[in-house]
Amino acid sequence: MASGLPAFTVVGLPDKAVSEARERVRSALSAMGLALPPKRITINLAPADLLKEGSHFDLPIALGILAEMDVIGHDDIERFLVLGELGLDGSITKVGGVLPAAMEAGMQECGIICPNANGAEALWAGDLEILAPVSLVALINHFKGTQILPRPIRRDTDEINDFHGDLRDIKGQESAKRALEIAAAGGHNLLMSGPPGSGKSMLAARLPGILPDLDARQALETTVIHSVSGMLPEGGLIRTRPFRQPHHSASMPALVGGGCHFQQLLRLNNNCCDNLYVEFT
Ligand SMILES: Nc1ncnc2c1ncn2[C@@H]1O[C@H](COP(=O)(O)OP(=O)(O)O)[C@@H](O)[C@H]1O
Ligand SMILES: [Mg+2]
Repeated sequence: MASGLPAFTVVGLPDKAVSEARERVRSALSAMGLALPPKRITINLAPADLLKEGSHFDLPIALGILAEMDVIGHDDIERFLVLGELGLDGSITKVGGVLPAAMEAGMQECGIICPNANGAEALWAGDLEILAPVSLVALINHFKGTQILPRPIRRDTDEINDFHGDLRDIKGQESAKRALEIAAAGGHNLLMSGPPGSGKSMLAARLPGILPDLDARQALETTVIHSVSGMLPEGGLIRTRPFRQPHHSASMPALVGGGCHFQQLLRLNNNCCDNLYVEFT
């Protein structure tokens, strides 16, 4: 914050959603009865050469400004990794990627501040401090000590893992079923070839049912991917094998992924999952 004509700018290659954080932050603060100070406010998202996208920068931007306005202490937020989207009324709404962020926080030995709806998800990252407020006011009250936020409660859900049928529903096709079993037991790839309607999709959909359960590391890895893509049901750990049916005309990059996010995810998987241990209850 500097003196000069009042302005509020976000620099560091923000996309449209990040630039619009200004309006959400301004409105969320005024919902609490706080006005932005009449100063030149510059938000710098470092590193400056990396494109930033998503709405999860709202909360860290708001907290930075609140600390600068001395509403909360600088050392209150120093030991936290923060992400969350702000509503115009100061509520903090759900964002994707909380689990991998929490894993990173755990590695850097700091806590995490995330939306209330994502609190249970962050629990899977292990033993770190998690603040999951429903609103900006609740978070400020927590720092002031007037209303301490409870730790989120662990929740389990498998609801996105719809059941794709049982292998015993298939009539005949003994050699195809045997091939499926051998592939499942040995962890081999399968290439199905045959005329339309001969049951290829049907056989493939029943493969997850005979595969062994996910171990802790695989469950975490699967959950991280669902979390980043915003497909994770509230707080859940995915415990059953995912089954995807991409269209046959999908391109190679569409199937295996690509771009900067893919690289980040790979790095995260290699770094984090080894150090983590998930206990099934
Ligand atoms: N051996 C079989 N036993 C039971 N149903 C079968 C069998 N083969 C085919 N079907 C039926 O035919 C439908 C079409 O099969 P599908 O898996 O879509 O074929 P493909 O993917 O090879 O074109 C299946 O959903 C199933 O209802
Ligand atoms: Mg098919």
